[in-house]
Amino acid sequence: MSTLKIENLHVSIENKEILKGVNLVVKSGEVHAIMGPNGTGKSTLASALMGHPKYEVTDGSAMLDDENLLELEVDERARAGLFLAMQYPQEVSGVTNSDFMRSALRAVRGEEIPLIEFIMQYEKNAQDLKMREDLPHRYLNEGFSGGERKRNEILQLKTLKPKFAILDEIDSGLDIDALRIVGENVSDMVSPDFGCILITHYQRILDYIKPTHVHIMIDGRIVLTGGEELIKKIDQNGYEWIKDELGIDFEDGSLE
Ligand SMILES: Nc1ncnc2c1ncn2[C@@H]1O[C@H](COP(=O)(O)OP(=O)(O)OP(=O)(O)O)[C@@H](O)[C@H]1O
Ligand SMILES: [Mg+2]
Repeated sequence: MSTLKIENLHVSIENKEILKGVNLVVKSGEVHAIMGPNGTGKSTLASALMGHPKYEVTDGSAMLDDENLLELEVDERARAGLFLAMQYPQEVSGVTNSDFMRSALRAVRGEEIPLIEFIMQYEKNAQDLKMREDLPHRYLNEGFSGGERKRNEILQLKTLKPKFAILDEIDSGLDIDALRIVGENVSDMVSPDFGCILITHYQRILDYIKPTHVHIMIDGRIVLTGGEELIKKIDQNGYEWIKDELGIDFEDGSLE
């Protein structure tokens, strides 16, 4: 059982403060959905936790058990057990999916994985995600459709088996069957050894991956936490009522 603990996290991009004190505790076995309007800092939280150099942490802490994530390099964070499925997965030409996956696995485990073992596991996961058969030989995400890219992120997740994953809009651009496939595959991973943060705009993916907690992020802070009932309320009413209820100033986003 592990714990990811984020306390009072402040993050700036190019000297502009985006995250203004985020607090969040995620334990293994839990699924935390983060919802919120565009541009409120959800992806910033994901990037900052993974150690993207552009995102400057100006205050606060992020611990994975007793490891201080903020002191670790990107690869060390992955080795500590953190995984990020990006909102916009990048193409990498010249590196095949299977080579990428095998070296990522080697880096995370700190040892070589026997080729046969790797191939069997990778192929099984690729089939679970209904990827094309030529996937291993294609370059990483090159020429992939939007849905293929998203499924490829989940394939990486299944292969790497991190302790915690941050899944940033894994549901965007998925057709209805792909949404189910992705949802079921992530849901199957939730166990006493795995927890996740699921950033999403839509209730639909949460039909497959049941959240234990639902958080609303507005203007760089988690302003409301609840259960599944919050999702329905957001779906029907949007976010303005939260701002009204909590007295959040529309102009500068500050709490009154
Ligand atoms: N690399 C960057 N360079 C400049 N500004 C950035 C960068 N990343 C984020 N921002 C800014 O930080 C703010 C928060 O962006 P972020 O991507 O975290 O929002 P989000 O909550 O994920 O939104 P969405 O729901 O649209 O994905 C935005 O104003 C955005 O323009
Ligand atoms: Mg985003």
